[in-house]
Amino acid sequence: MVIVTTLKNSEKLAKAIAKNIKGTYSKTEVSTFPDGDMYLKFSSKLKGQKLVIVESFQPNSNDALLNIIFAAKNAKSLGAKKVVLVCPYLAFMRQDKRFNDGEAINAQIMSNLLNNSGLDRIITIDPHLHRIKKMKDIFTIQAENLTANDIIADFIGKKFKNEIVIGPDWESYQWADKISARLGVEDTVLEKTRSSSRKVSVEVKKEITIKGKNVIIVDDIISTGNTMIKALKEAKKRGAKSVTAIGVHGLFVEKAYEKMKKAGFDNIYTVNTIEHKSNKIDITKLISDKLKKNI
Ligand code: R5P
Repeated sequence: MVIVTTLKNSEKLAKAIAKNIKGTYSKTEVSTFPDGDMYLKFSSKLKGQKLVIVESFQPNSNDALLNIIFAAKNAKSLGAKKVVLVCPYLAFMRQDKRFNDGEAINAQIMSNLLNNSGLDRIITIDPHLHRIKKMKDIFTIQAENLTANDIIADFIGKKFKNEIVIGPDWESYQWADKISARLGVEDTVLEKTRSSSRKVSVEVKKEITIKGKNVIIVDDIISTGNTMIKALKEAKKRGAKSVTAIGVHGLFVEKAYEKMKKAGFDNIYTVNTIEHKSNKIDITKLISDKLKKNI
């Protein structure tokens, strides 16, 4: 039997996946003792069972990491046969090198902790692979990344006509380019300069016709929303008919969603890797199909 659970962040998706793969959804209690120490308790017997933990790293990525490690170690010590982490949003990937002396390389430390946590396998969606090229470069456990590209493209195809796709920086081009190719529409990528974690500027490098078009800006992560807003301004300046933001992972920190709405986005849609009211693109089937093949 396959038991599916979540810790704090992905209840809706965990329940949907459990249903889709005909597993049993089982609640896990994650709370704290009065002094703040972690308390974690599974509610099903795990001996000899396969356990799928569906847990996004947002909100509260630091807590999520610790919760996952405690859950995986606990499951193994209770005799679980296999522990799989479905982690629709994998955090810590953007700090993938030591940019300044003395900094921690988050991606390396996070993967090292998960490699040694008792997890047998990790499945994620569109991780931020930039200087680290493959999940296998940092994970020694079985690690797979799935992409929401086709689902996003099909969503756009059903909703829009006369659209073009923009990637707000070179890293996002891996999504924008694949999505526009599937849609058979034009795309362009902007050149982004980041002066701090909250300050960016963008420049259009390859001009395409934007006037009168429904512009879809696609990025992997929407965090402060500043990248999206800068790209929106470029599209508006060039006479876009409408501008839509699509993020694979909508973190929306510091009221980013409200800020983006105010800036003038006609639509803001995200994939349901992180629970949010903008979730309109569903990855339940993508993940379930992978699990159904083999857990
Ligand atoms: C960075 O390289 C990512 O692809 C996103 O463009 C970035 O994380 C967006 O961050 P923010 O919303 O804070 O501008």
